[in-house]
Amino acid sequence: DAIVAPQWASRLRDIADFPKPGILFKDIMPLLAHSEDFRGAIAAMADRWRGQKLDAVVGIESRGFILGAAMALELGVGFVPVRKPGKLPGKVLREEYTLEYRSDCIEVHADALPAGARVAIIDDVLATGGTLVAALSLVRRLGVEVVGAGVLVELDGLGGRGRWEADLPLHTELVF
Ligand code: PRP
Ligand code: MG
Repeated sequence: DAIVAPQWASRLRDIADFPKPGILFKDIMPLLAHSEDFRGAIAAMADRWRGQKLDAVVGIESRGFILGAAMALELGVGFVPVRKPGKLPGKVLREEYTLEYRSDCIEVHADALPAGARVAIIDDVLATGGTLVAALSLVRRLGVEVVGAGVLVELDGLGGRGRWEADLPLHTELVF
């Protein structure tokens, strides 16, 4: 049988040369703007974690906030933001990492979650994997159990999956 892409996948848009020449940007904004398809994408991402006894969803600024917060509501759990530096008001843990064209540091509130909490880390796109791997190290320093990660779009060929821990689930809904 042919593999049929989900209806909501048609709402992703390619933008050439953004944020810099040579990058083909996967724009999720048209998906977010469409009620039914946004709901469909969130349901697909949330279904991965049903029955997994999550305590919270961790979302990565900025676009991981949108998907992660919607998933948290869908799953009936809390939401914890991993933010770009200098944004969180309380005591933070900070993780530095190196990437080409974006902020190289993320933070989480040191008291965001109780030790042992079961969490999934959510973002919109997996490219080099730098952001997601940094979020994994950061969140683990809280003493929580990271059950896995979920992203909407995996860009194959940039090495992201290879940087992720092999035995930790990494769910991606679409691969390009
Ligand atoms: C993008 C994307 C992921 C990350 C993926 O975020 O939303 O978070 O890059 O790239 P990587 O796998 O190479 O780390 P970006 O920081 O560009 O901006 P955003 O605030 O719009 O999410
Ligand atoms: Mg991002």
